[in-house]
Amino acid sequence: MPRNLWKMYIGLTKLDMTVLRTIERGMTRYEYVPLEYIERRLRGTPRKIISSIDKLNQMKLIRRRLGSTVGYTLTYWGLDILSLNNLVQRGVIKVLGDRIGVGKEGNIYIAEDASGGLVIVKFHREGRRSFQKIKRYRGMVANLPRKSWFQITRLLGEREFKILVALREHDALVPEPIAWNRNSVVQEYIPGIELFKVRELSRNEAEKILNMIIETLRIAYKKVGIVHGDLSEYNVLISEDLVPYIIDWPQYVYKEEEMADELLRRDVTYILSFFKRKYGVERDPEKTLSYIRGE
Ligand SMILES: Nc1ncnc2c1ncn2[C@@H]1O[C@H](COP(=O)(O)OP(=O)(O)O)[C@@H](O)[C@H]1O
Ligand SMILES: [Mg+2]
Repeated sequence: MPRNLWKMYIGLTKLDMTVLRTIERGMTRYEYVPLEYIERRLRGTPRKIISSIDKLNQMKLIRRRLGSTVGYTLTYWGLDILSLNNLVQRGVIKVLGDRIGVGKEGNIYIAEDASGGLVIVKFHREGRRSFQKIKRYRGMVANLPRKSWFQITRLLGEREFKILVALREHDALVPEPIAWNRNSVVQEYIPGIELFKVRELSRNEAEKILNMIIETLRIAYKKVGIVHGDLSEYNVLISEDLVPYIIDWPQYVYKEEEMADELLRRDVTYILSFFKRKYGVERDPEKTLSYIRGE
């Protein structure tokens, strides 16, 4: 059953938000934050606190562990809510709209910004499922000994935001980053469709689109020093004026990293074989790789 994040959010009271934040704070010390810790840090009557906790538990924004000491942990939904609250309080977004994608790594929503424009909010989820992928976050993880998946997730919004900033500074074709908080990143909404869904393109149009994709990969490599690492026809959005925007960057690796060469080769092979298969556009992979590396 899809859950409506905005509906959940507007149903929360100030106390509910405070309880959520308190549990989040406690999670730097505890896997399951003891009830006693929560009560100690909150004013308000214990009865009100308990009923708020029950409500949050029922909404699956927190999870209860019973045992000798009762404890609570945030769920991903709880983390999304805290992140959403921050974006709303800062005036970054006014309303969260429909979920437009349930990605491999998180949920993507359309939202309205303060001036009524459309933006995208991506809430990252880094679960065990992504174990393979997480190895590529090595650089980041290395600085965080013994950090949980949960804490790593919290850093992904910032990671995606900052790399989009760097890419945009060098005129790469990527969505404009707008804000981040915890596991979320807000970015420009690109009206368009994923490359794999694009039906008719002339040979000439396909050539141009591929050239622009290769140019963005070159900027990423030469100017920013990174490799995307998950490039495919699913992570390219084609705008109405046929400009390809490469999205979904959080798993990038620096070109000095051990896996970078292999990943760049894979990215290039994927995208070239797609253009060959679907549009009959042929490019030499080795020459393309050399071009991207600036050799
Ligand atoms: N900036 C954007 N503008 C429009 N749609 C987007 C944007 N970012 C993501 N999407 C949509 O959400 C989907 C998933 O986003 P993506 O960043 O690739 O996350 P995932 O890691 O879940 O694959 C995309 O395929 C696209 O349909
Ligand atoms: Mg994707």
